[in-house]
Amino acid sequence: MAHAQWARYDQPASLRTCGSIKAMNRRQFVTRSAAAAGATLLGGGSRPAAATAGVDQIPGSVPSQTVEQARFPEGFLWGTATAAYQVEGAWNEDGKGESIWDRFTHTVGKVKGGTTGDVACDEYHLYPQDMAMAKRLHQKSYRFSISWPRIQPSGTGTPNAKGLDYYNRLVDAILEAGIRPFCTIYHWDLPQALEDRGGWPNRDLAGYYADYAGILAKHLGDRITVWAPFNMPWSFTYMGYGVGAFPPCRSNYGDFLKAAHTVSLAQGEALRAIKAASSKATVGSAYGMCPAYAKTDSEADRAAAARYHAMNNVYFLEAAMHGRYPKAFVGEPPYELMGFRPGDEKIMRAPLDWVGFHYYTRRIVSDAMGAPSFGGGSFAGTEIEQDSSGGRDPYTRFRAAMPTEGPLTEAGLEVWPRGIYDLVTQISREYNHPIIEITESGCSYLDTPYDKAKGGVPDARRIEFFREELAELSRAIADGARVRSFHAWSLLDNFEWAEGHCQRYGLIYVDYRDQKRTIKDSGWWYGRVSASNRLDV
Ligand code: FCB
Repeated sequence: MAHAQWARYDQPASLRTCGSIKAMNRRQFVTRSAAAAGATLLGGGSRPAAATAGVDQIPGSVPSQTVEQARFPEGFLWGTATAAYQVEGAWNEDGKGESIWDRFTHTVGKVKGGTTGDVACDEYHLYPQDMAMAKRLHQKSYRFSISWPRIQPSGTGTPNAKGLDYYNRLVDAILEAGIRPFCTIYHWDLPQALEDRGGWPNRDLAGYYADYAGILAKHLGDRITVWAPFNMPWSFTYMGYGVGAFPPCRSNYGDFLKAAHTVSLAQGEALRAIKAASSKATVGSAYGMCPAYAKTDSEADRAAAARYHAMNNVYFLEAAMHGRYPKAFVGEPPYELMGFRPGDEKIMRAPLDWVGFHYYTRRIVSDAMGAPSFGGGSFAGTEIEQDSSGGRDPYTRFRAAMPTEGPLTEAGLEVWPRGIYDLVTQISREYNHPIIEITESGCSYLDTPYDKAKGGVPDARRIEFFREELAELSRAIADGARVRSFHAWSLLDNFEWAEGHCQRYGLIYVDYRDQKRTIKDSGWWYGRVSASNRLDV
């Protein structure tokens, strides 16, 4: 892999300058967002003229000309994504078993605002209306996940007919709306019964998981042809077992490595089980990735950025494509700690038909060889670098930080449109130009229905986020990347894990008091983009 090149080639000089630039940027951003909101109120969803003032001076922002000229290929699959636990609700209906997320959210003190996913968006009952809205927004693809404990309440054995029936009805509704169903098999909601048997560090889960994947392919594989085994495998293994911020709240680096290894085995076993059950199946991925930029030009920082990329971005991709782990560690991989056995490389190897990944933000990475403790870098804005609760990492020895050079979303993630160009072109180079699906991207802003906008939701910042990011994506396509889809996170506001209802990522606003949906300005805009394959709409 050509790590040295990518680590060097987009290191903006301004990253190494000081805080006065940041202060100026924030002022400009505030001016811009206020102007954008005002212009949207007056003029509908198109690019607000007033908002362009100063845009080009914001680090990372994209010139308006690039946005206006951007075109997407005929047949490009515009979509949205959701996850079972975040939208379905019905947490104990029709025989569904308990998941680790049910257990976590029912534990006092875990979720901001004390909310749970018990009802969420009530998609379990409201899916017909939500699919009708997706159709109205000219959607071509819908990425959803299946709840394992709905299918196998205790994680193994005979499938629950009522659970399968729900997904049968959902898939039919998606197809009736003229939309491609894209199924994520596991988006973090492990049956609690399997956690009680040791969770992902227990390698028996690879076999149980492959059985579950095979059941889905057998019952739904006549209509679903696009399967992604795991959503963000690094995040749920690291956050759940390495640092304990997500369920099952364990914090032991060895458990993280073991969990990650079981997931690699499971990914390979599942691919074979799915293909055995459905001849139409194609299998890819839904990895979380952040392009990594070395903090300085030093060899040590460039090597650290390469290790970040190996650990956080392509660990599971490399396992599937080549049956090995990439160079994420200083020195030999800690095979013993992983529970790696001879022959595992053959089980892990399962070349994917296409490569799917998310893009939200970027990382600045530096070497931490001299530091007493190190962290792998967290899921969201704040890096867990010196975790005193035990999630220490003497193996990868890098520090990953999220810069604040660009504006921040409500979730605290830096907006950096150029990152998607860099990431897509890098993966294209490193993996021999695969077909790419962008499985998620989006931003949290808290705009609400506004009476002076006739009850609509003027969320100009989200439109701006997608407009600039998608312009960068179209540049990557023009430069030869084989990207065939983009899934906005999310179709609708939903339960945002430990953040509860404190973040809103949707193109559709949800009032959780009565489940009323309101399409945001960004939703209408995205609908026009989907219908026209252009961004100046
Ligand atoms: C992604 C997750 C998704 C959602 C978004 C905001 O990392 O896959 O479930 O929480 O972040």
